[in-house]
Amino acid sequence: MSPLEEAERRRTFAIISHPDAGKTTLTEKLLLYSGFLTAGAGAVKAKQGRRAATSDWMEMEQQRGISITSTVVQFPYADKVMNLLDTPGHRDFSEDTFRVLAAADAAIMVLDAAKGIEPQTRKLFEVCRDREIPIVTFINKWDRPGLDALALLDQIEETLVLEPAPITWPVGYAGNFKGVIDRRSGDFVRYTRTDRGATVAPEEVVPSGVAKVEEGEEWEAATDGIELLDAIGRSFDFERFVSGYQTPVYFGSALTNFGVRMMLEGLADVVPAPSPRLDATGNPRPLEAPFSGLVFKVQANMDKSHRDRIAFLRVCSGRFERGMVVTHEPTGKPFATKYAHSVQGQDRQTVDEAFPGDVVGLVNANDFRVGDAVYLDEPVTWPEIPTFAPNHFRLARVADTSRSKQFRSGIAQLDEEGVVQVLRRAGVGDLEPILGAVGPLQFEVASHRLENEFGAPMVLRPTSFTLARRTNAVSADFLRGRRSAEVVERRDGELLALFDSSYALAALERDFPELKLEKLVAEG
Ligand code: G4P
Repeated sequence: MSPLEEAERRRTFAIISHPDAGKTTLTEKLLLYSGFLTAGAGAVKAKQGRRAATSDWMEMEQQRGISITSTVVQFPYADKVMNLLDTPGHRDFSEDTFRVLAAADAAIMVLDAAKGIEPQTRKLFEVCRDREIPIVTFINKWDRPGLDALALLDQIEETLVLEPAPITWPVGYAGNFKGVIDRRSGDFVRYTRTDRGATVAPEEVVPSGVAKVEEGEEWEAATDGIELLDAIGRSFDFERFVSGYQTPVYFGSALTNFGVRMMLEGLADVVPAPSPRLDATGNPRPLEAPFSGLVFKVQANMDKSHRDRIAFLRVCSGRFERGMVVTHEPTGKPFATKYAHSVQGQDRQTVDEAFPGDVVGLVNANDFRVGDAVYLDEPVTWPEIPTFAPNHFRLARVADTSRSKQFRSGIAQLDEEGVVQVLRRAGVGDLEPILGAVGPLQFEVASHRLENEFGAPMVLRPTSFTLARRTNAVSADFLRGRRSAEVVERRDGELLALFDSSYALAALERDFPELKLEKLVAEG
């Protein structure tokens, strides 16, 4: 098949949710329904010692039961090839999610039926909106008491300014779930409870005439709901979905498997196939152009038995073949792709061939950074992936000066991976940088990794800084002479001014309007 035909079969998506809404459970169940995971054969996340890990790798993740890193699972479904990108579960790592979303064509937003839109759902949704990623909604935990279905739709519409278009509609309320009506066929799919959903749930499809008699009042209520949706135009429209105005909605219970098959079918149906990616000048790179890829994640030491560094890239055009020599755009250097892998947790498999939408992990691509392009024959540069504004700051220092060298290289590595932002102070040298983060858990990860992977424990001290602004050399010179700001330099050469409070910043802006103090993107 040609790259174009292969691209047409790809469905590349990520799952986002507020912690505990059911992202991990839904991921497992999508794999179960695709036939990729057999019951009990290993689940996605090690949580409270319950599950075996295939997608988490770090000791700390296992101890804390959180997912920090992300990998990709590829599985066939019907005639499609699904690429499910894992995103970190915790809000402190939303910048990492942002980078992963650079490689996705859609995201599934999982909501807990009892909680609706939660703070983290909203934040991640905004990240999706920034990246112009279409969103499919899965309303989970319908097996237990929750909010009313119409109230949930209202929440989506009001808080996210996103039009919900249910594809399935529940019969019975949350906690007294009878099944869903598939709005496209009109059929009723009856809910059958399965014990923790270890196996694919039996599904009973009941014609509407029979369901009407059997379900009585609840059927009436559900069909009234559908009539209302029809009347107000809440029906799925692909164009509105891909342009970010509408979200198709599915109801279900990932734990008991209900609604998972319909969700999976829906993903195969509605997630857009990869399309030509715009380059830095705004020109689309055709899918059939020679191979090109975008580096969206760099990760070192994922596995103790492979102490190496992997750059994950999404194929954007053409055919990737292992062994091909590609050009790394920023350096212009050739790179031989001899060690190309797919990585799922600890497992690595050689990838011989990949197409637009697929993800390839390149081992020892040491010069590769997030946002870089690699290509064959026809050069390409991708638009920059913006860095988030840090709003937590710590002073870092090596605990044992005999480990300074390891500290330096460890800090540089973590900076390149985006685990923390390393902010250097002029005249202080790189042994006492300020570390910036979007969330404080990032510091814990950095400390843990410095100690365990580089043998360089660090001491972190609090600072009073709470916000950063981009500045320039002239303003920086002025600011260095003042006590209300600290000037630091980021790895990309950008100068940032750090402030204790928005008052300090506002006072400075008022007194010295000529200073350059620009807001950074995605400020929390
Ligand atoms: P996350 O990745 O989004 O953080 O959520 P995760 O899948 O880990 O699910 C969080 C909790 O919600 C888990 O319970 C899980 O079993 C439960 N859950 C997920 N989907 C459903 C559902 O459809 N219905 C119900 N009733 N519960 C659901 P836990 O108590 O944290 O873990 P466990 O004791 O069940 O293992």
